Amino acid sequence: MAGGKDQLEMGAVAMEGLLGEFRAGNIYERGLEKIGLKRHLGELSRRWDEKFAGLLAEPSAYSSSKGLPPQGRRDEYLKRIIVGLLEGSEGGMIVNPACVWGRHSRDLARRLRGLNVVGSDIRGAWDWLYGHIPWTRTPANYQFMRDDIFNPKVQGAPSAVVSFGACASLSDAAMDYAIGSHCPLLVCRACCHLYIGGNTDIVKRPDFWNRVSRFQHFIFAKRLAKLRERADGHYFSRKYSAEHYPRSETAKRLTNSKEVIEVARDALSSDICRSIIDLDRYLHLAEAGYDVWYRAEMFIAQIATNTAGTTERGCFAVVDRNL
Ligand SMILES: C[S@@+](CC[C@H](N)C(=O)[O-])C[C@H]1O[C@@H](n2cnc3c(N)ncnc32)[C@H](O)[C@@H]1O
Repeated sequence: MAGGKDQLEMGAVAMEGLLGEFRAGNIYERGLEKIGLKRHLGELSRRWDEKFAGLLAEPSAYSSSKGLPPQGRRDEYLKRIIVGLLEGSEGGMIVNPACVWGRHSRDLARRLRGLNVVGSDIRGAWDWLYGHIPWTRTPANYQFMRDDIFNPKVQGAPSAVVSFGACASLSDAAMDYAIGSHCPLLVCRACCHLYIGGNTDIVKRPDFWNRVSRFQHFIFAKRLAKLRERADGHYFSRKYSAEHYPRSETAKRLTNSKEVIEVARDALSSDICRSIIDLDRYLHLAEAGYDVWYRAEMFIAQIATNTAGTTERGCFAVVDRNL
């Protein structure tokens, strides 16, 4: 396992490389992006594959925002890793911020009977609805809590914080909640990189996905603007406004808020841009003392281990599974 310095160095080199590609305009064009991603993320991806095998080779091996099926497969893949890591644990709590329907939280509760799973979301309606579908069953070790992850109220020391596609800065808040509660395990798939820091602008590109999203924006523009101005916790927060990016001290030496938001504006059409935002998150977690693995919008962070399977805050079985 790479020590803190190694993983910070690895992240900083990758970040510098991808920022170089962005500044040179080597984004958006599929062939160019592929070369850049392979060159700068190869080492981090190998590190992931050594620890957590089984990621399906997909057309976009590094990022997944184009289409729901890859995201669904990645969530299933991450849940299998979580179960592998926590199987046999008793009495701890898993918190799943921005859980929407609570389907992933319920699934984890079913597969990890010894743990309590708390699904939290700023809105309770979707979870309530899901719980009332006649053919769904809510396990006894699952509980829903209304909570704003920008100002989290969930008490106690979670054994794991997990999130599956928490939009934009919600992913950052979930990470900070894990850091702040000294949680030994964070598993996260990031999503909607475009909206970090309160950004709602998209660089116009001719591709289909970009056009669909621009149309979606046209429909939701007023609502998005209101949410951003209201800053009442629904998707946006002043705690995570533009000037709070980049998140990591390392990235602050390589870039600035203005450039990160420019990167975000292009994040819809560019794997490189999404990866730059994620590398900053990777560095932020590493700086907070975690061993971090990052690949294709997915993060697994564990509090640096002293001996195999023993964390500073307790124990859980660390099992590398060939998924
Ligand atoms: C688009 S959904 C994420 C969907 C997710 N990718 C999935 O597949 O389940 C975003 C969710 O975040 C929730 N949300 C928005 N702001 C929040 C906040 N401040 N704290 C917690 N949840 C929030 C919304 O209510 C919504 O349920």
